Amino acid sequence: MALLTIDGVWKRYQDHSVLRGVDLTVSSHEVVCLIGASGSGKSTLLRCVNLLETVDDGAIHLDGQEITDVRADPDDIRKRIGIVFQAYNLFPHMTVLDNITLAPRKVHGVRRAEAESQARDILTRFGLADKAATYPDRLSGGQQQRVAIIRALATHPRLLLLDEVTSALDPTLVNEVLGIIRELKQTGMTMILATHEMTFARDIADTICFLDQGTLVEHGPPAQIFDAPQNPRTREFLYG
Ligand SMILES: Nc1ncnc2c1ncn2[C@@H]1O[C@H](COP(=O)(O)OP(=O)(O)OP(=O)(O)O)[C@@H](O)[C@H]1O
Ligand SMILES: [Mg+2]
Repeated sequence: MALLTIDGVWKRYQDHSVLRGVDLTVSSHEVVCLIGASGSGKSTLLRCVNLLETVDDGAIHLDGQEITDVRADPDDIRKRIGIVFQAYNLFPHMTVLDNITLAPRKVHGVRRAEAESQARDILTRFGLADKAATYPDRLSGGQQQRVAIIRALATHPRLLLLDEVTSALDPTLVNEVLGIIRELKQTGMTMILATHEMTFARDIADTICFLDQGTLVEHGPPAQIFDAPQNPRTREFLYG
């Protein structure tokens, strides 16, 4: 069943159409990777799904509810969607534990003891149990990004959006972040990732979507997109 449907979404900045009628359906437990050149619209699409941008035309449904409806409450919808960006954006003045428990406590009304207990469980699961009391500036980039992902999971989102979460990292740290994403896939988390890491996209995605100048040119299973792309623009992007 479709968890998310994107129908004919257009996004314009002044006279520049950044998304040009994008259609995409994401099923529960599906992992979708958005690939495409810089400026093709990957981040904009993720930002539209999380209502950080308003769409100019088209509609987005989450769990059957039209979230682009002007009457929908953005705060309520964002409670169901986790998003992590390239720059991890942890709050520097808060410990790891406080970073993770902030939204569950303040937005979802979870009591501190329960929020902290859940946070410690998930930190343990991802090998960061000993960092609960640490401040972000004492963590490596890879650890900070793992905490940012854990923070996004702490509210039990239906859907996780990951925008180039490894691109600010030293190559040696990339693998620890990719590892957490692999684990999330195993737990059945529905995810949309924008990435320039083709090897990783091939490995993790159920579906690859190739965007070119705001158009979703081609999508399909990794083997099809990488080994037998149908569209010349996809071939050009992948193989030059
Ligand atoms: N707030 C904005 N105002 C005007 N133009 C914008 C704005 N945000 C993005 N754009 C433009 O929209 C286009 C798509 O940008 P977007 O960030 O979605 O690309 P991207 O595929 O994520 O690229 P990258 O791989 O570099 O992250 C670009 O041409 C960008 O300049
Ligand atoms: Mg981007």
